[in-house]
Amino acid sequence: MTGAYQRVDGAGPEQLAAMRDLAGRLWSWSSRWHPGELAWFWHEHGGPDPAWRTAYWRHRGRVVAWAWDRGGRLDLQLDPSHLALTEQVVAWFGGHTVTVLDAETELIDALGEHGYARRDDDRFFAHLRRSLDGLPAAAPLPDGYTWQPADAAARAAIHSVAFGVTMPEAVYRGVQRAPSYRPELDQLIVAPDGAPAASALAWVDGDAAVLEPVGTSPDHRRRGLAGAASLAALRAARDLGARDARVCARGDDGYPAARAAYEALGFRVYARNVRLVRPA
Ligand SMILES: CC(C)(COP(=O)(O)OP(=O)(O)OC[C@H]1O[C@@H](n2cnc3c(N)ncnc32)[C@H](O)[C@@H]1OP(=O)(O)O)[C@@H](O)C(=O)NCCC(=O)NCCS
Repeated sequence: MTGAYQRVDGAGPEQLAAMRDLAGRLWSWSSRWHPGELAWFWHEHGGPDPAWRTAYWRHRGRVVAWAWDRGGRLDLQLDPSHLALTEQVVAWFGGHTVTVLDAETELIDALGEHGYARRDDDRFFAHLRRSLDGLPAAAPLPDGYTWQPADAAARAAIHSVAFGVTMPEAVYRGVQRAPSYRPELDQLIVAPDGAPAASALAWVDGDAAVLEPVGTSPDHRRRGLAGAASLAALRAARDLGARDARVCARGDDGYPAARAAYEALGFRVYARNVRLVRPA
């Protein structure tokens, strides 16, 4: 494909909209990015970190690539009809480490022409999928646990305790304002003492859903709560028209819990992220 490319730098809502637009247009099981998880990754820290740089490229008015430099590590998406643009994207980045999906073979080859070669880390993320046909029916929660609406305070609290981070309530309110956020896809389970115990959030775009994130408080693990919350979110996604779901989890044996929890729900690994490095 020839013709001029227009680069747009910036970190405002327009950037996320452009990224989601491309992710939705290119979505397939060979694609690393689903629009829903982009919305989550963008909002989970309350908006773009000042250390990040982001840009997208347009060709004849259409978004054909985006790049997200997270402190020297590049995430990107590039329309396979515009692989010639790889040169401009890596020049804009100027760094040494890029993460892609192993199924993005054309992009891997294009990055290889610019000196990036696969050099895997000990840690990596696997992509797992399952059909939303045949989801098990809802089962009762363990004694004393209840479903509650996912209000921002409780959701921020369970996210913080499950992931060992500090998420302010205002940040979760930002997640809830994302255009693709749907409350019925956000499931919260509360413990007998009223403390938030587990949650799962799904995002739907077309006929594909992603789960991002899922978490259970360390005080309430191995009681089936992540499974129950995830299945509730997946049933809601199916009701909104999704036919398949995708989730990411650490694929290495250094942190098996999340992958095991998703495999217990019928998800199976179909692809993994790989790291490409260009020597300094
Ligand atoms: C991963 C996580 C969500 C699991 O939550 P949970 O409520 O304990 O999960 P469940 O009770 O529904 O687990 C269901 C099954 O998953 C598997 N599983 C869950 N945790 C596991 C672990 N630590 N090791 C091995 N298998 C595990 C088991 O097969 C389990 O069934 P069992 O208890 O009958 O053996 C929880 O450990 C967590 O919040 N971790 C931190 C955040 C995170 O990694 N989130 C996922 C990535 S977005």
